[in-house]
Amino acid sequence: MLVESVLKDTVPNAVVIDIGTGTGDLIFDYMKTRKTTDETPVVGIDLSFSMLLRAQSKLKGESHWIQASAEKLPLGSNSCDALVSAFTIRNLKKILPQTLKEMWRVLKPGGKLFLLEMTVPPYWILKTLHHLYLKTILPIVGRTVFQKEWSGSYLSETILHFWSPDQFCKILTESRFQNVKYQTITGGIAVLHNASKP
Ligand SMILES: C[S@@+](CC[C@H](N)C(=O)[O-])C[C@H]1O[C@@H](n2cnc3c(N)ncnc32)[C@H](O)[C@@H]1O
Repeated sequence: MLVESVLKDTVPNAVVIDIGTGTGDLIFDYMKTRKTTDETPVVGIDLSFSMLLRAQSKLKGESHWIQASAEKLPLGSNSCDALVSAFTIRNLKKILPQTLKEMWRVLKPGGKLFLLEMTVPPYWILKTLHHLYLKTILPIVGRTVFQKEWSGSYLSETILHFWSPDQFCKILTESRFQNVKYQTITGGIAVLHNASKP
């Protein structure tokens, strides 16, 4: 859904940057889905060098990878057609104001922002099941599968304590973005926010 939205809302050969790219899955999908005539390299940015190495080994020579933090993007002002980010913004709560400022700075006028994130479903049955899953099932599965590497309740806590889709729209609007809207995915377990720079 994210890739389709980016392709629908951007021009061919758009300069697209993936922030918090991780192992580059989103870029991989985007490059597979876009027109074969579109050869503009996509740029993946991540704080973690090891993630970028894994992304690079998957997409040899087709993309650029930059190790940087979202709050200080090593990109020129007004240089990007679209910024995308999947399952990362929730981890950037402490640096969100500066991150949104940077996103606004590097987008071209008319440039688009796409932020995909996990969230809490709005309807009470799903909300209760979701809460149960995050608080009990996920930690059991996590500890069993990942053992010492399981990062405790971090995932559940960041989802439960992130802003609601409406609150996040307000934050984007206050950060000078326009046409701010969102669509929920899978009953509200995930949400895709879209916005543009005037
Ligand atoms: C949950 S992963 C999501 C990865 C990828 N977008 C995906 O959907 O598979 C979050 C990513 O954000 C990166 N990250 C965390 N803090 C960051 C920061 N300040 N700036 C850039 N990337 C950051 C992490 O290294 C990690 O790769």
